[in-house]
Amino acid sequence: PHPDGKMDAQIGLVDAPVTEIAYAKVNVALHVRARRDDGYHALESLFVFAEHGDRLQGQATDDGAIDLAIDGPFGAALGADADNLVVRAARALQAYLGEQRGAAIRLTKYLPVASGIGGGSADAAATLRLLAQLWDVRIEAGELAGLALDLGSDVPACVASVTQMVGGRGERLARHAVDGLEGCPMLLVNPGVGVSTAQIFAGWDRVDRGPLDGSSLEALRDGARNDLEAPALAIAPVIGDVLAMLAVQEDLLLARMSGSGATCFALFRSDRALAAAAQAVRQANPGWWVMETRIRSA
Ligand code: C5P
Repeated sequence: PHPDGKMDAQIGLVDAPVTEIAYAKVNVALHVRARRDDGYHALESLFVFAEHGDRLQGQATDDGAIDLAIDGPFGAALGADADNLVVRAARALQAYLGEQRGAAIRLTKYLPVASGIGGGSADAAATLRLLAQLWDVRIEAGELAGLALDLGSDVPACVASVTQMVGGRGERLARHAVDGLEGCPMLLVNPGVGVSTAQIFAGWDRVDRGPLDGSSLEALRDGARNDLEAPALAIAPVIGDVLAMLAVQEDLLLARMSGSGATCFALFRSDRALAAAAQAVRQANPGWWVMETRIRSA
């Protein structure tokens, strides 16, 4: 039996499904430096990725169609229509390649939607990786990055899903190592409110509070920030409750909001501290979404 519980070869030649994980993205720090003339904002941000995320499974088809089925704990929050970032990513790659084949894709949504951890962006990037495998194509990195940026500012960074310093609106990427970050136990907490990224950016006060020093964990904790925290808190005050709860946990390295919120993250010194914090948060707030994970290594 296949790991899915399905039989592989039923009738005809059906390739075994390929799986990709759409790793959750976390902004350890996010400095907004300027509002650009095109409406986007110039950022400096340290992106890390969780070991966990949404799951995509796909099989190539002969008819050119892109079929998407969605399930999972947050599946009901999303439509499987042409607006879905998975469908958009697949169509963009198909058009770019002039690919005649299609794909049947199942997205299992474990990450909350519109929550600052890049669910949609990670899904789009994972779709590009999945289809490159299914269709057995090699795409030049620069071309892939261009396709990715058209799908969303965070998608280029999600293609590699490794720790990166990100600039521009999201297209300037540099791999970046910080002592103590890789493999670090990480808790993600979302209080169950979805926020609009565009709305949060629009609430930024246009004060440039300076560059991001990502040279050490101490610098990231004491000298860095998420400039979207204030506008997000104004729209969703419950984020303050999440941050307050995380701040009092033991053996905490750093707690902050990710992206435009409302998900906040906390980094811990040990797995034990992570588990204790997860239990405390779940017990105090049974309605909140809590995920125990680790920072993914390159
Ligand atoms: O690029 P993406 O479509 O994911 O961005 C969603 C919205 O977030 C944009 O329409 C824009 O309002 C805002 N944004 C921004 N500056 C960025 C990234 C996103 O203002 N660097």
